[in-house]
Amino acid sequence: MSTVSANLPRPGAIPWRAIVRVLRPREHKHFLAHLLRLDSASRSARFGRGVSDDWVARYAAETNWRRGAVVGCWIDGTLRGVAELRRFGSDRSKTAEMALSIEPTFQNCGLGSLLARRVVAIARTRGFIKLCMLIAFSNWRMRSIARKLGARMAFADGEIDADLPLDPYPQATDIPRNEVEEGHPRSNLDAHSVGNRLISELL
Ligand SMILES: CC(C)(COP(=O)(O)OP(=O)(O)OC[C@H]1O[C@@H](n2cnc3c(N)ncnc32)[C@H](O)[C@@H]1OP(=O)(O)O)[C@@H](O)C(=O)NCCC(=O)NCCS
Repeated sequence: MSTVSANLPRPGAIPWRAIVRVLRPREHKHFLAHLLRLDSASRSARFGRGVSDDWVARYAAETNWRRGAVVGCWIDGTLRGVAELRRFGSDRSKTAEMALSIEPTFQNCGLGSLLARRVVAIARTRGFIKLCMLIAFSNWRMRSIARKLGARMAFADGEIDADLPLDPYPQATDIPRNEVEEGHPRSNLDAHSVGNRLISELL
């Protein structure tokens, strides 16, 4: 696995090492622990309202990992950020929804943008043609991420429906699915830097 060190464009940052990869169902305990570490503002932003620990536990337990993908960002061995990709509607639907959660200490450092880009790539390899996001009007960071991805935004009732049309990957059928989406320690094809962080992405 390769890493890239980078400059320090954002002040107050501490150096850490992060790995971005698709999570496996057996890692659901880490997924739950991450969601429980979100503070109340982040939980509200993620789930659209304030939710209890019990509600979060049910949500994590009921997550259908086969209906999409859960991409995680591990920092020093702890899951600090997650992007969920979920098929929207029927089993044949080619629309997916995306939701992100980054723990407060690690917000505004570029990790949400990084995870969102990774989810877009995964959605394309899985044949989705549209990615949608429901964003609170005041969620400037998420709005910024959706805008950077090129999403079309429709404003209504204090919320934003963001839709991103997806082009298929031309060579998607040429790439073994498990290498692209599940990550393999010896098939690290890409590496990024975020702020002053060291990022390894497992494709
Ligand atoms: C929303 C969230 C996923 C964003 O992830 P993040 O890692 O904090 O965001 P990033 O650092 O990747 O990007 C934030 C962007 O917002 C911009 N931004 C931050 N504050 C802003 C503001 N007040 N106005 C406009 N843009 C702002 C930043 O400049 C950055 O854009 P840039 O990279 O082009 O400079 C994360 O903050 C989070 O988990 N929040 C709580 C849960 C949530 O809101 N989930 C989304 C539900 S759809």
